Amino acid sequence: MTPSTHSAEPRLVVRSLRKTYRPPSTTSALRPVEALGGVDLHIDTPGFYAVMGRSGSGKSTLLHLLAGLDRPDSGEMWVGERAVHALSESQLVTYRRREIGIVFQQFNLVPTLDALGNTILPGVLDRQPLAELRERGRTLLEQLGLADRLNHRPETLSGGEQQRVAIARALVCSPSLILADEPTGNLDSHSSGLLWRLLEETAASRGIIVLMVTHEPVAAAHCQRTFILKDGRVAGDLNSHGLDPTLLAHRALELARSA
Ligand SMILES: Nc1ncnc2c1ncn2[C@@H]1O[C@H](COP(=O)(O)OP(=O)(O)OP(=O)(O)O)[C@@H](O)[C@H]1O
Ligand SMILES: [Mg+2]
Repeated sequence: MTPSTHSAEPRLVVRSLRKTYRPPSTTSALRPVEALGGVDLHIDTPGFYAVMGRSGSGKSTLLHLLAGLDRPDSGEMWVGERAVHALSESQLVTYRRREIGIVFQQFNLVPTLDALGNTILPGVLDRQPLAELRERGRTLLEQLGLADRLNHRPETLSGGEQQRVAIARALVCSPSLILADEPTGNLDSHSSGLLWRLLEETAASRGIIVLMVTHEPVAAAHCQRTFILKDGRVAGDLNSHGLDPTLLAHRALELARSA
């Protein structure tokens, strides 16, 4: 089967995904690191999903590959009907701008731009009409409770507010997939709770997949399923929505042990 004739309708499918980081040949003292050793993942309904696993298990690597920020060594990644593993460099640029929203632990806002300017930046880079973009950006920021912060620069916003701007920025081009890597790592527990609820609502109201890497069982309890990564492979997954966080952590550990 060639990538262009893929006929099923999975929303997010990863097959036998492998990635080894190889040091440049001049630094022979360093050894290659296998970050992903054959990841399989299948999500066929929109919603909020989590990836958990110990430090170094390959979570960020998986998100980077899905976001088109780096290339796998082998394997397949399907987002909707798109074969991400088969995209050319120029197709990847468009894919990153139009189909993917990314939220990192560091908010990565541009310090010289205000909240609205940061929000619409992906659309500006994609040369979309400015007036329309500004309208969309304004509406998004209002929906996220930032109506009176449109012209504030990042340094004058709280951590929670900055992260909401980062979410508005992730949403401005109406992506089909949102990838979040420990998005609440720099937030207090109140702002974290608000953010998880926001991501859950965003997935439901837009009918898209939000895939979040987290270390926190409380966060995974907002997600319908949680995938457990161990040593670069999926050790298993849990129906996690509404689970008691202590029980969730226990089950996650059991899965990782039994793999
Ligand atoms: N650019 C890189 N070059 C070499 N090795 C890397 C690189 N990025 C990650 N690694 C290695 O690949 C493995 C997986 O890293 P990754 O960042 O995906 O882990 P993670 O699960 O996100 O961990 P954490 O929870 O600490 O963020 C680790 O052993 C890491 O040291
Ligand atoms: Mg990481």
